Amino acid sequence: MQEGEQTQAISSGVQGWVGAGSLGTFTALPLPLSTKTELPAPYGPWMDIAHELPQLIMSHRLRARVHQMPQLSTQHLRGREQLHLAHLVLSFITMGYVWQEGEEGTVQVLPRNLAVPYWEVSQALGLPPILSHADFVLANWRRKDPHGPLEIENLDTIITLPGGDSLRGFILVTLLVEKAAVPGIKAITQALGATLQRDGDTLHRALEELAGAIEAMRAALRRMHDYVDPEVFYSVIRIFLSGWKDNPAMPHGLVYEGVSPEALAFSGGSAAQSTVLHAFDELLGICHRQDTAAFLHRMRDYMPRPHRAFVERIRGAASLRQHVLASGDARLRLAFNRCVSALTDFRSYHITIVTKYIATAAAKARARRAEPGARAGPSAGKAPSALEDKGTGGSHIFTFLKSIRDTTREGMISA
Ligand code: HEM
Repeated sequence: MQEGEQTQAISSGVQGWVGAGSLGTFTALPLPLSTKTELPAPYGPWMDIAHELPQLIMSHRLRARVHQMPQLSTQHLRGREQLHLAHLVLSFITMGYVWQEGEEGTVQVLPRNLAVPYWEVSQALGLPPILSHADFVLANWRRKDPHGPLEIENLDTIITLPGGDSLRGFILVTLLVEKAAVPGIKAITQALGATLQRDGDTLHRALEELAGAIEAMRAALRRMHDYVDPEVFYSVIRIFLSGWKDNPAMPHGLVYEGVSPEALAFSGGSAAQSTVLHAFDELLGICHRQDTAAFLHRMRDYMPRPHRAFVERIRGAASLRQHVLASGDARLRLAFNRCVSALTDFRSYHITIVTKYIATAAAKARARRAEPGARAGPSAGKAPSALEDKGTGGSHIFTFLKSIRDTTREGMISA
């Protein structure tokens, strides 16, 4: 695949790869590439705050700045690209606003000058009014040298939060995992087409391509160790990804002033909202247990609309697994199993990463909290305790992740 195609494919938050057409013409649609990182002039007040977020949060001044912000109309936003950029900007401001004082100083109301435009942009995109993977990673990168390669040395984030280089590394390494997945996404469309056409050679090639992509994703995930400090991730970054659903630190949710008098509850940002693994699971016919499947399905509501539609379309397609089983073709079975095995290994490796960045880091943070003189607030580096053994969605992390890994393994086709 050419690098240009990869760029278009991973920048899905802004431009999007989308499975389109009937199953017979499943194609990845490359949409126009843009390097826009600023909103039009009327949105200067949002951009000014967004570019200063780490300093405003660390000095506890963000909430006051938001209160002074004018309520802007969303009518000057043009097209999906500007809408996604606006959603990214408003999501980061909202997470900073809510979590500025840590889990002990949350708010119950998001002020109307932020809540109303945020709601309108979210409605236009079919995204929830909270930071999602599509904002945090997919829409949040730019090339330093516009003609340079799509490698971490030439990449930067657009909007940031406290966490410095570790936050930048967390976002960009996750982006590299998405980039590694791109040939796999294209292989899905080829595999589904080949299944319909009963074209064994093309199907075999597509499955090999998919397995290679998942193996490359695992290799990309390893780079987390080089760029992200576990203590900074756990004590500084993680709270800003937290949501207000099933979160003891915000048991009542959040009132979006001017939108609804009732408090609303949304899960925080997580790569569980990345379309990639959902798409692979659907293609390979992986069946997760009921409770974990329910959580994962709920995460689809946090994907951009076309991504959700893509996953649903794969789900509705003829079963690849049944096709491979019925074909009695050992070559296809081996290639299919190589995909399942690569997906299982990816998930096992992900558990190792989560152990390092959450479980081990949590134990160290607990020890630190017990020290005399520990202070509140993320700027003090005091880790949240409400989410200690829970994922951003409130799930019990290790039971959840191991169940998903084990049911993936059960997807193998035996000889
Ligand atoms: C420091 C790095 C990471 C940590 C600490 C981490 C943590 C977690 C946690 C706690 C969950 C449980 C669900 C939730 O909280 O929402 C989760 C789920 C998940 N994460 Fe990560 N994650 C990391 C990096 C990544 C990356 C780079 C990817 C790939 C793009 C990824 C993909 C997933 C997926 C797909 C799930 C859903 C479970 C599954 O399908 O296996 N994670 N992660």
